[in-house]
Amino acid sequence: MHEVLYVTSEMYPFSKTGGLGDVMGALPPCVSSKGVKTDVITPFYGRMNLDGNKLRLVYSDLHVGYPWPDTTAEIYQTEYEGVSVYFVARGEFFDRRHYYNTHNGDYFDNCERFIFFCKAVLKWARLLPTPPAVIHSHDWQSSLVSPYLYFEKRTDSFWSNTKSVTTIHNLAFQGRFSERLFNESGLPLEAWSMHGAEFFGDLNMLKASIAYSDAVTTVSPSYAEEILGPEFGCGLEGFLNTQTHKLEGILNGADYTVWDPGNDKFLPCNYSAENTKGKLECKKNMLRYFDMSEELNDKPVLGFIGRLRDQKGVDLLIDILPRLMKKDLGVIVLGEGNLTYEARLLELMEEYPGRFCVQIGYTEDLAHGIQAGSDIFLMPSRYEPCGLTQIYALRFGTPPVATAVGGLRDTITPYPDPDATGFTFKKPDSELFYEAVLEAVDVWQNRTEWDKMVKRAMRKEFTWDSAADEYIKLYRKLGARI
Ligand code: ADP
Ligand code: GLC
Repeated sequence: MHEVLYVTSEMYPFSKTGGLGDVMGALPPCVSSKGVKTDVITPFYGRMNLDGNKLRLVYSDLHVGYPWPDTTAEIYQTEYEGVSVYFVARGEFFDRRHYYNTHNGDYFDNCERFIFFCKAVLKWARLLPTPPAVIHSHDWQSSLVSPYLYFEKRTDSFWSNTKSVTTIHNLAFQGRFSERLFNESGLPLEAWSMHGAEFFGDLNMLKASIAYSDAVTTVSPSYAEEILGPEFGCGLEGFLNTQTHKLEGILNGADYTVWDPGNDKFLPCNYSAENTKGKLECKKNMLRYFDMSEELNDKPVLGFIGRLRDQKGVDLLIDILPRLMKKDLGVIVLGEGNLTYEARLLELMEEYPGRFCVQIGYTEDLAHGIQAGSDIFLMPSRYEPCGLTQIYALRFGTPPVATAVGGLRDTITPYPDPDATGFTFKKPDSELFYEAVLEAVDVWQNRTEWDKMVKRAMRKEFTWDSAADEYIKLYRKLGARI
């Protein structure tokens, strides 16, 4: 029996460019552990981390019929944490160096790649002995699954009891393409409407998914509200306001089997809220690894990990860095993305050797090392649908300084609240960010107060257990027989 089928373009540990990968590596296993049978389907990328998992070929020629009438896909399967994971393979689409883009921009055929993926998902699911009770799609890459399902239901009773859910992890990426690609998608003309897939004369894949899904979720309650207004609605706020009856926010959790300094396999030594000593060892190790000044061992070190994009407010950090460097502290950045930001950060590293260090690239173990080795975590995001890095930072005893937006607002209790776990500032503005960083550094100087905050942060729980319960409740509310 296939009960909940998750459709996603990333799943940790196989594939990951950001939080979506983490979510998909954790939510399905958690739902499965609650007795609901769970499967995931995702592309078979050329560059995947198979992590010793053996793949089994289950279909060598699944007929997809797109882009050519005789186009097929191979489907592979493996088991991961109680979940069956299926991979859609088609070399010309997915066997590439990157998943979605290179430094020169998005792949020119992204729309075709994910039309193919979504079509393959439904073709494969149609061959199952029993239909999935729920098909739960994530972000624009999986966004044609719900519309295809909606229209297939009209003629194919196999799907009668299948419910559809869409989760928006980031509204800024909508999968917007030309009208020609709407025609290619094979959706019926009826979908070319302001109530469907059409958006100012373009195909908008995420909008189509929202329109034709039974329920829509975002990854934090605050973001679910924010996207209804012009500041965060990315142009879809008008449409979203017509969909509020089926929209809700469910806060992401953290996978503490992967992100907990008590059992983290990437750290030189482990530590916990009960005994934080090891954190200092992790800091020393990190400073050595990055060739940073030993003097920083007993000064505050500020860490930033994330995509170097406008969303993450890395420009605010660049703005205030020269001023921060006049203080007695160190800063470390791990990220990749916008070439201008990368170049500027590298220049700054030349200017402040030993005290500011940037590592350009995407390295899982360094992300863990910086979470553990830093004292303060920086997250000046312009918007943040949920944000996982600040949730990890809390558990690693690295109180965050973050903009009070979206999921950051929902997960950080800001100083000077007696239960404070971090620091927030009202809006993405360099001055406000700078003041908040100084405030954090100030509290850091008071060792007793800081230790208390670190321990409070480490004891916070954002578990998948409660998020999975909320999703299951939602599936049942839709009438899914699970
Ligand atoms: P987003 O999904 O918007 O990028 P999240 O905070 O939800 O932000 O999740 C980011 C995930 O990607 C975290 O697991 C973080 O550790 C990881 N990550 C981001 N940038 C890097 C990087 N350069 N190297 C390693 N991991 C990274
Ligand atoms: C997106 C968002 C991030 C969220 C992640 C997982 O990439 O930018 O805020 O945590 O998805 O849901």
